[in-house]
Amino acid sequence: MTDLEHLASSIDDAETAVAFTGAGISAPSGVPTFRGDDGVWDAFDEGQFTYGRFQRDPAGFWADRVDLYRTMFDEEYEPNAAHGVLAEFARDDVLESVLTQNTDGLHAKAATRASSGGETGEAERETDADEFATHESILELHGNARRVRCTDCGTRVGSDPIVERAEDGELPPRCECGGIYKPDVVLFGEQLPKTVLQRARSLARESDVFLAIGSSLVVEPAASLPRIAASNGATVGIVNLESTPVDSVADVCLRDDVTTVLPRLQELVDSSVST
Ligand code: APR
Repeated sequence: MTDLEHLASSIDDAETAVAFTGAGISAPSGVPTFRGDDGVWDAFDEGQFTYGRFQRDPAGFWADRVDLYRTMFDEEYEPNAAHGVLAEFARDDVLESVLTQNTDGLHAKAATRASSGGETGEAERETDADEFATHESILELHGNARRVRCTDCGTRVGSDPIVERAEDGELPPRCECGGIYKPDVVLFGEQLPKTVLQRARSLARESDVFLAIGSSLVVEPAASLPRIAASNGATVGIVNLESTPVDSVADVCLRDDVTTVLPRLQELVDSSVST
């Protein structure tokens, strides 16, 4: 049995299968990754986008944020085949949940397309933990850069018009209430919302299969999730072009492109489900 077949049969047998993704799953869509060749953190200084900087110098933060937004989150990016497979797995209850570190909103776009009849719209928010959920099956651990949130009244609106206002010199862009808008993402030095992290950790603990896809697995607390899954007896599969610090606890490591591996994994899962 090949590694891929082993992973497919583990998914078939699983009560709870969870996928966890990083920037690598969006790379085939043209979205730059953070690390590795031409990583975003080579072109931009991470230190410009910390929570401390936002609090100290919101105007300067937003002046730099505009360029990062245009590079990473512009409207033009579309989900790729790998996003589509995970969205269909979630729709068909093969996956319990997709936990993502990505803030590009591509999992939500793919979920909208996979849902029958293409209904769109936000899922029912089950608990506070869904503060960041854009679909009941997706947990955006680091938020969603396609939204901004007012730091005073909490109103969430789409990012594009607010980024345009910042580009036109409104630094920082403000809500009607006078509050400053903040990208609806977890900035460096900012805590993940407790409920979101608790939910992600309980999903990792409950999982029988935990797939870590397209992540360098170096940023905590997210990078601990596959370890939590492994220590609770889950089959851990890693799909990543490069090695990661978590490879040693994985049952299967597939050093290949997400758009090659995931469609093949779906074929194997679908064929064994239908037999
Ligand atoms: N197929 C498979 N793996 C890929 C592909 C691909 N087509 N393209 C890139 N990769 C792999 C790279 O080898 C790399 O190890 O995806 C990984 C992406 O790693 P990072 O760029 O570090 O992204 P990520 O792990 O999501 O970063 C975590 O760091 O900067 C913060 O908040 C940011 O959420 C981000 C967090």
